Amino acid sequence: MTSLIGIGVGPGDPELLTVKAVKAIQNADIIMCPASNKDRPSIALSVVSSLIDKSKNQEIIKLIFPMTKDKDVLEQTWKRNAKIVAETVSSGKNVVYLTVGDPFLYSTWIYMHRDLKENYPDMNISVIPGIVSIFTFAAKVGVSVAEGAEKVAIIPSCYDLSSVKEIAKHSESMIFLKDGRYFEQVIKVLKESGFPDDSIFAIGQDLGTENEIIRKMTLGEVNDGTLTTKYFSILVVKRV
Ligand SMILES: C[S@@+](CC[C@H](N)C(=O)[O-])C[C@H]1O[C@@H](n2cnc3c(N)ncnc32)[C@H](O)[C@@H]1O
Repeated sequence: MTSLIGIGVGPGDPELLTVKAVKAIQNADIIMCPASNKDRPSIALSVVSSLIDKSKNQEIIKLIFPMTKDKDVLEQTWKRNAKIVAETVSSGKNVVYLTVGDPFLYSTWIYMHRDLKENYPDMNISVIPGIVSIFTFAAKVGVSVAEGAEKVAIIPSCYDLSSVKEIAKHSESMIFLKDGRYFEQVIKVLKESGFPDDSIFAIGQDLGTENEIIRKMTLGEVNDGTLTTKYFSILVVKRV
């Protein structure tokens, strides 16, 4: 039986890995990780670089997932990468696949996992969860994600935002991920959504890294200078 472990490496701080993740990475013969192109580093790999012991000769395989919304390109990419994973796992070695945050939130792992389950049903696949950017941010800003009867919406910013005004009517908190370069549009929609001006508004960028930026104010105080334009950014609005 061949095996593969999908590992969430958390938001970026190497100290925010689970003990189980650390052990699995140290035991791995082959470490696979995603990158957006062959010349760019894998962020997930950089989070765990201090765990990689050169004397163990662990093999590192970077899988390329171009940043595109083209469905055909995406599907070909998932298929191609799932095949590479399957061939690697069939070598009988311990293989891990790293993802930022948790593997089951907006991650390349989700599509690979689906394909592998369908096309390689004998593969023994397990998942080690990781600390999600949303909870890292909550911990740093000191704002709860949800309490009591509150409802929370998680919204990807890079797609159609036309439903946000409706979602705003039914949620106490809205959390925008994917990605900071779209936050200008998000703020425009939020300002028109009827979400109260005294709502908490917070933005976090590159959480858990040395470039981390956190800003907190009210929605009414937001202006153009508040924005972040980095991919690794999270925006939260919450009614008070
Ligand atoms: C493809 S999604 C991956 C989410 C990830 N699986 C998780 O559990 O957080 C990437 C988006 O997650 C958010 N994100 C992940 N890590 C982050 C970090 N360290 N700082 C800020 N935002 C982060 C950003 O919104 C980014 O655009």
